[in-house]
Formats: sequence, C-alpha cells, structure tokens
Amino acid sequence: MSSNISPVQKARLSYKPKYPKVLAGPSGKVALKNGKPTQSIKDQDAIKKLFPQTYGQPEVFFVPGKAPSNMKKAIKVALVLSGGQAPGGHNVVAGLYDGLKKLNKKNTLTGYLGGPSGLVEDKKLEITDKLLAHYRNTGGFDIIGSGRTKLETQEQFEAVEKNLKNAGITALVIIGGDDSNTNAAILAEYFKANDIPISVIGCPKTIDGDLKNEQVEISFGFDTSTKVYAELAGNVGRDCLSAKKYWHFIKVMGRSASHIALEVALKTHPNICLISEEVADNQWTLGQITEQIAQVVADRAKAKKNYGVAIVPEGLLEFIPEMKHLIGELNDQLAHNAEFEKIEIPAEKVAFARTHLSKESKQAFESLPPSIQVQLLADRDPHGNVQVSKIDTEKLLIEAVEIQLKQWKKEGKYDGKFASQGHFFGYEGRCAAPSNFDADYCYALGFNASYLVAAGLTGYLSSVRDLLKPAAQWRAGGVPLTMMMNLERRHGKDKPVIQKALVHLKGKPYKKFCDLRKKWSKEDDYTSPGPIQFWGPTEVADIVPETLKLEREK
Ligand code: FBP
Repeated sequence: MSSNISPVQKARLSYKPKYPKVLAGPSGKVALKNGKPTQSIKDQDAIKKLFPQTYGQPEVFFVPGKAPSNMKKAIKVALVLSGGQAPGGHNVVAGLYDGLKKLNKKNTLTGYLGGPSGLVEDKKLEITDKLLAHYRNTGGFDIIGSGRTKLETQEQFEAVEKNLKNAGITALVIIGGDDSNTNAAILAEYFKANDIPISVIGCPKTIDGDLKNEQVEISFGFDTSTKVYAELAGNVGRDCLSAKKYWHFIKVMGRSASHIALEVALKTHPNICLISEEVADNQWTLGQITEQIAQVVADRAKAKKNYGVAIVPEGLLEFIPEMKHLIGELNDQLAHNAEFEKIEIPAEKVAFARTHLSKESKQAFESLPPSIQVQLLADRDPHGNVQVSKIDTEKLLIEAVEIQLKQWKKEGKYDGKFASQGHFFGYEGRCAAPSNFDADYCYALGFNASYLVAAGLTGYLSSVRDLLKPAAQWRAGGVPLTMMMNLERRHGKDKPVIQKALVHLKGKPYKKFCDLRKKWSKEDDYTSPGPIQFWGPTEVADIVPETLKLEREK
C-alpha cells in the first residue's frame, strides 16, 4: 500500500457504494425465501452423483421479513481472492466485512494471502476497519493478493480443513471465476460430506465476462476493464483519423471467450473486430481470416483510407481449428519431453518440433511466421503447455495480412500502403479503479455473501440481479453452484465444471455487431467513450456494459 495517493484516489476512498434496499435496511428484517429445487444445466445424473450433499438445493432470495434466528450468531469468516485481478475486488471485501459487522460486531473476517495457496499454507491477515479504510473503492487485489493454485488433492483439502478449524472459522468466501467457483463447489461438498462445519460461498469475478448465465447477469470487473480498453481504443481511433497513416491491430484480453472484444467494439466502432466464437462456428482457417482482413484493408485503400482499427480477441488462435489441433499436438508431444526441455536455442526448438508433428500440424506450424513459431515453443505454463494467451496474435495477423497484400499488389488487385502498429490491452485494465457500476455491484456481492454465510448456506454463489435497475432495487440472494455445472473433458477425463459462457451467436450483442460491422468497415465511425467518470450526471457516471444492456433489456 502506498502512502502517496492521488487526489482522485483520496476522493474515491469516501465513495459510498449503493446496494440493494433489502440488505441496506435493518438486519433483523431480512428473511430468506427459497425458490424451487434446482438441477445442473446438463449431465444431471452425473453431477448429482458427484455432489450428493449439495446438489438440487433451491435458489434463495433475500426479501423483507423476519430474519432467521441464527443470522445474529457471532461467526468467524475466511476470504480468498482467486485468479486474475478484476476491478472491484476490494469492494467485495468491504461489502463482506461491513455486512458481517452489521449482523454482529463480534463477527470477524480473515483474508488468506496470495490466493488459495494461502489457505493451504495458513498465511493470513485479519481484515480491520483501519486496513479497509485504505482500500475502499480502489482497484487491485493487493489487500490480500491473489493466486492461481487449484485446490484438488486430498492433502490440500485436509490442510485447508485443519487451518480453518484451528482458526475457529466456520465459513469461507471464494472470490473467483468459473474454475475457482468449481473449486468452491467441490470444497463445499467435501466439507458437508465429512461433517465439517465450514460452509463455502462463491462470488463471480473475472474481467473476461465468461462467468454468466441465466442466473448470473455479469461477472464483476468486466465493466471497468472494458471501459478502460474502450477509452484506449477510442483514442487510437482518433489518432488513426488524425494521422491517417497506420492500421492499428489491438489484441484485447479475455483468455478464451470474446466478450471483451465484442464490448469494446460496440463501444468504439472499429473497422474490424474478430469474434473467436464465429471463427470456430464457421471453421475458418488462418488463411481465410487473413483474407477477410486484407479485403477490408484493400477496400479502404480504394477509398484512399490507408488506415484503420482492428480488434483481435486474445483467445483467437485456439478457436481456429487447425491451430487448436497444432496446439494440442505440441502439448502432447513436447510437454515433459526431456529431450526437448534440454534445448535452449530457439531455432533448434523449432527444428525439433517440426520432426514431432503430424503432416497437418506441420503444415499449420509452417504457415506461421518464424517469430510466432518460436513463441509457441517458448511460452509454456508450469505443466509444459503452450500459453496461447501470451502469443502476439496481433503481430501474427499483421504479418499475414502484409504477405497477402504484397501478393495482391503483384497481381494488380491492391494499390495501397499498409503501415501497422500492434497493441495489447490487458493488464492496463485489470486493476483500474472500479467504475461506479463495479464499485456498487462488488459491494453488493460482498454484503450479500455475508448474509448467505450468516444464514448458514453452503455451495452457493452470491447473486445480485436486475442490474439494469437502480442499485436499491437489485435483487439479492444465492444460486446453487451445482446448478451451473456440466461435465467437460479435461486432460482426457470427464470433470464437473461450471460452464464457461462463450459469446452467444444468437444473442443480441453479437447480432447488433453483425448489423453494424459492414458500415464500420467502410466508414470512419470511431467513437471515443473517454475515461471512466466517477462523478457527474448519471448518463455519464453510471453507464452499464453494452452487452449487459442488450442481453437484459426487456
Ligand atoms: P481470470 O479468469 O482468472 O479472471 O483471469 C483473467 C485474465 O486476465 C485473462 O483475461 C488473461 O488471459 C489471464 O487472466 C492472464 O493471466 P495472468 O495474470 O496469469 O498473466
């Protein structure tokens, strides 16, 4: 924590987040209403078998009424931040803390440090008023840190159980994405099956926006991070229009799904935006994608517009069938290959890989520029797998388009100039100070989680809905984690996981994009959303994500 804070940071510390009226009222006047018993979205029999204790629980809602008698009992609660940072995490902590203290002054909140590994290693910190005062409405996860350790083994579960029991903790709140909340569901089941009196509640976090479904309208952090990227992309559009000399290829974060790319496109109107899900649906090859982009460049060149903006989703490569296959083969052939691991010179790694690939994958590999071939082999995760998100897809596309345009020039089909700039907008947005929407939503999610915990529920995700309404009217409650699960093939085995939400090709946001993209490709329709506004009229300070609006507007 820095003692040197900016005037905006200082002013923001005293922002009072808005949250549902039902939770803001007297704590004795909040009743719990059960919905109908639930089922998992798919593979019901298998999921039920794997989660016999927590499967089928009803959805729950907080409504005005008499609070259950156990809500006031003093409890000790633990908290962990899991996975990539997302704006608003500190407000989840603040909401959780304030909710617990409102229910009973003796309630305590302990943050486990550095993500789930902190639970295993028993590294923790007591959350206090004094500590929180420095973090309210700030970006980042630095209050307790985060990490990507998965809790999977019996030893890890036993260590978590021992550490929490020793600290007298009876509830754990896990703030994370689809994988972390799958972990929360497994842990809740494990505790219940073994009569361990510790409940587990999840909170939906990820800038990627892929933890959403019928019940979860949006994950927190998506709004702020896309506002940051859209501000930058809008500025780039303006620069483009002013200088009229570059094609800007902007890769935006989002490990797998293209929600971020789509939201940024809807906010800024670039000439091109690729949607990975559309690529997979049409089984487009890298060559076909390159041709489509080059065609837009060539058409604009005819209109004397040798400039433009193209948005590229981070996960694109894995959605191109031949690249997905190649990556799979590289993972199978080279992960834990002792001979390969000994090689240090990039050119020798490339030569080694060539001799270990099937004919089709070798062809796909050869079609890539040498710099990308090297990257595919260099950036590997701790399991030896290719880290697709680290590949400079924007540069790959620039190179491929350049080659295509040169070819067309030779054939007399193109007569323009193609000067390019590559960008990657990712880490710039993950720790931004939360927008009013995320500050409010996160505080509400945390506050709501404290009530779920106090009500003794386990295996639920904190859920705050009706987000297009004013915050006071948001509905608060819990969704059973098993309700969002299905079986997926992971490392050759069927695993129960919370289903990742990809861009829905029949959904309204994608349809709107399709209706407009032709116009955007020809015209200079760039819009500048500008920086996030914390103060001012509601139409500038309380903007909600375009995708959320399109998906939920009645
Ligand atoms: P989560 O799914 O954990 O929220 O992470 C999101 C993300 O920001 C992705 O968009 C990105 O691909 C990844 O994290 C980067 O991971 P790392 O922080 O390990 O570099």
